[in-house]
Amino acid sequence: MKIGTPLTDHATRVMLLGSGELGKEVAIELQRLGAEVIAVDRYANAPAMQVAHRSHVIPMTDAQVLNGVILAEAPHIIVPEIEAIATDVLAGIEEAGFARVIPTARATQLTMNREGIRRLAAEELGLPTSPYAFAASAEELAAGAQAVGFPCFVKPVMSSSGKGQSYVEGPEGVADAWAYAEASGRVAGGVVIVEGRIDFDYEITLLTVRSLRDGAVRTDFCAPIGHRQQKGDYLESWQPQAMSETALKAAQAIAARVTEALGGLGVFGVELFVKGDDVWFSEVSPRPHDTGLVTLATQTMSEFALHARAILGLPVDVSLREPGASAVIYGGMEAEGVVFEGVAEALSVPTADLRLFGKPEAFERRRMGVALARGADTDEARARASEAAGKVRVIAP
Ligand SMILES: Nc1ncnc2c1ncn2[C@@H]1O[C@H](COP(=O)(O)OP(=O)(O)OP(=O)(O)O)[C@@H](O)[C@H]1O
Ligand SMILES: [Mg+2]
Repeated sequence: MKIGTPLTDHATRVMLLGSGELGKEVAIELQRLGAEVIAVDRYANAPAMQVAHRSHVIPMTDAQVLNGVILAEAPHIIVPEIEAIATDVLAGIEEAGFARVIPTARATQLTMNREGIRRLAAEELGLPTSPYAFAASAEELAAGAQAVGFPCFVKPVMSSSGKGQSYVEGPEGVADAWAYAEASGRVAGGVVIVEGRIDFDYEITLLTVRSLRDGAVRTDFCAPIGHRQQKGDYLESWQPQAMSETALKAAQAIAARVTEALGGLGVFGVELFVKGDDVWFSEVSPRPHDTGLVTLATQTMSEFALHARAILGLPVDVSLREPGASAVIYGGMEAEGVVFEGVAEALSVPTADLRLFGKPEAFERRRMGVALARGADTDEARARASEAAGKVRVIAP
């Protein structure tokens, strides 16, 4: 693997499709390794744009516009950061051999739609998942919910971060769940998945890295990350999550199979539910995972450094250094150009660190930053991360 000099004809050009807080950290790691970074998103001054060599503001779901930007920039590597992308364009680019798509164009297509990845995991690979059905109308949803049983979760197949999701306790809740999913589905189509609830003890993200070493692809697993979710969005995460040896082996076996089926190089966030020694596959991001922000505090190489190395064809080290935790800082209001107060107090908490993402606009439930902390164990780290996050106040300008 050769790396050129940025901003010359020999630069190693990497294009990020999606420029949020995860992309920002990936961009920084790529820059450290001498890559030329081009950030793309649908709004100006997105976090990764603030640290990239160049940026473009385009609707990434518009195939023609996306194709135009890719052809004009001629990146060697394309790194999708979000799911809402015209992935057919990526398939064409990959097939033409114009650029490498991370991890593969097919992986981005399968994971942007819950139906694609669920059918791959459950029906092709035979991995354990929640019982599920797909529905394209309120009537089909009612039948599907009966089949999987109550309580159940209803989710638009094209959605992330809890958008359009409902938790339904009985038949009387089905009509509302359909209406809510249809109103907030990200892309037209109006298909939902209904999943029976898994009564888990805890849920984890198993960061799984496919990288090259001595010319061969290898798979490595980070220590499991525990997390707490509210309305489909994570509030806090910690690493390592304590697990039985049997459950950990089962989790790694599931992650190995699903990431091998998706292929390519890079970090995957494999979401799993665990009860005792039993493990269920939930979903997978073919990219760094939001709950993995904790690795900025805990690992020798964060998930962002791992991603940058893996996609450049370089060797990785997934070792855990110390227990740690992350706690989310929400906007808590709708305002542009917010101000953060209490930063010094937050950073006075032992071991605490912060990432303030620099998003130009705050929303009530928009993630604006994250507090990180380490500790003798994850309990201590969680208490410190929460304390630090709580000291940061988001103020209207
Ligand atoms: N079948 C299920 N059984 C139990 N809990 C579930 C089930 N499906 C979803 N959940 C809960 O809801 C959370 C969000 O679900 P899911 O990961 O499918 O949605 P998402 O919109 O992709 O969220 P994110 O983008 O934050 O990962 C899960 O992490 C879990 O806590
Ligand atoms: Mg999820």
